[in-house]
Amino acid sequence: MAKLTVHDLNTRGQRVFVRVDYNVPMEEKDGRMVINDETRIRETLPTLEALIGQGARLILAAHLGRPKGQREASMSLRPVAARLADLVGRPVAFVDDCIGEKVEKTVGALKDGDVLLLENVRYYNEEEANDPTFATKLAKVADVYVNDAFGAAHRAHASTEGVARVIAARGGKCAAGLLMERELKFLGDELENPAHPFVVILGGAKVSDKILVIDRLLEKADAILVGGGMTYTFRLALGLPIGKSIQEPDKIDVAKAALEKANARKVPFHLASDNIVATPVNTGKLNKKGKPIFELQNPRHNNSDRIPETEEGVDIGPNTIKTFSAIIATAKTILWNGPMGLFEDPRFAAGTFAIGRAVAEATRVNSAKSIIGGGDSVKAIHNAGLADQVTFMSTGGGASLEFLEGKILPGVAALSDK
Ligand code: 3PG
Repeated sequence: MAKLTVHDLNTRGQRVFVRVDYNVPMEEKDGRMVINDETRIRETLPTLEALIGQGARLILAAHLGRPKGQREASMSLRPVAARLADLVGRPVAFVDDCIGEKVEKTVGALKDGDVLLLENVRYYNEEEANDPTFATKLAKVADVYVNDAFGAAHRAHASTEGVARVIAARGGKCAAGLLMERELKFLGDELENPAHPFVVILGGAKVSDKILVIDRLLEKADAILVGGGMTYTFRLALGLPIGKSIQEPDKIDVAKAALEKANARKVPFHLASDNIVATPVNTGKLNKKGKPIFELQNPRHNNSDRIPETEEGVDIGPNTIKTFSAIIATAKTILWNGPMGLFEDPRFAAGTFAIGRAVAEATRVNSAKSIIGGGDSVKAIHNAGLADQVTFMSTGGGASLEFLEGKILPGVAALSDK
């Protein structure tokens, strides 16, 4: 059912609690935390500008990292407030808490169009526990609830779900932000009734992460293309040798079931047919988790669907690039989720980048709608310099996957229907 959006609201003079997903990658540089990728902040600007335009008083809430109820200084949202002020072109007040007197006082002083960012809601364990008392404390300062945090909408936490219930119970409105609306449109409506041919490209390390997505999309897709680490579990399921490639032997039955379903539904299911392989060599060093570090040596093209015992698959090969690109070129709708190999290593990025180029080309030449499912595939599209050449890139990671699996996201379910 369609949800209320900020365009359906009139929030002049009202205090609006806006849940955003500012869980952005940060790193320490010269003793201070800097933001490495501000996409998630930028993507909320249309919602913030719409509310500011209405004359709302904005109270933004977000989480950063997983501090597990502790006040972890490295996970403070203070640097985000500073950056947001630059982006939105007006001051952004910051309170180093998300509930309590200080918050109430600051909110009391907000004028129409003012913006306040609260400190990390996960500094309280009650946030992830969706504690009703905590949700009531968060909701105390607000009249209206807006959720623009698609990336956190799969979490039934106090700020993503509990606050909405408190405000709705008081008769207040709970609306989707404009980013949330776009995410639901592209990952939801557009894929529910896709223009055909609908080509689904899946990659990433694990079959287990994607199996529910495969299962659901087999109902809609005209072709499924599989690359990346998950290829090797499928190959195991077909009885093919995969050497030292990443694998999930306990998921062989799941992989077989997906192949059988594709066969029964007559959906062409293309597994990468050739690969770039490399030899993992133990360096004798250990990583932070105490696990041995391997170096990938002697990369070469393996023109076969069988991988020798001492090697592992690290990227799709040129034949697969050709086959996959030709299929992508016919598409009217494309969904891509998961890279084709270890693209963060430039030696193994060619396959993922070539698929990115094929998707961009189909978008341009064929007017295909290209939807990038979030997480690593979005990073790959950015690294390939193609970010402005696809139709939509999701800001969600886990949330995108769960939504593509057809699950109801608690953060969406809690919003008012139109
Ligand atoms: C994300 O980065 O995927 C979201 O912000 C959710 O974060 P979480 O997995 O820590 O709940």
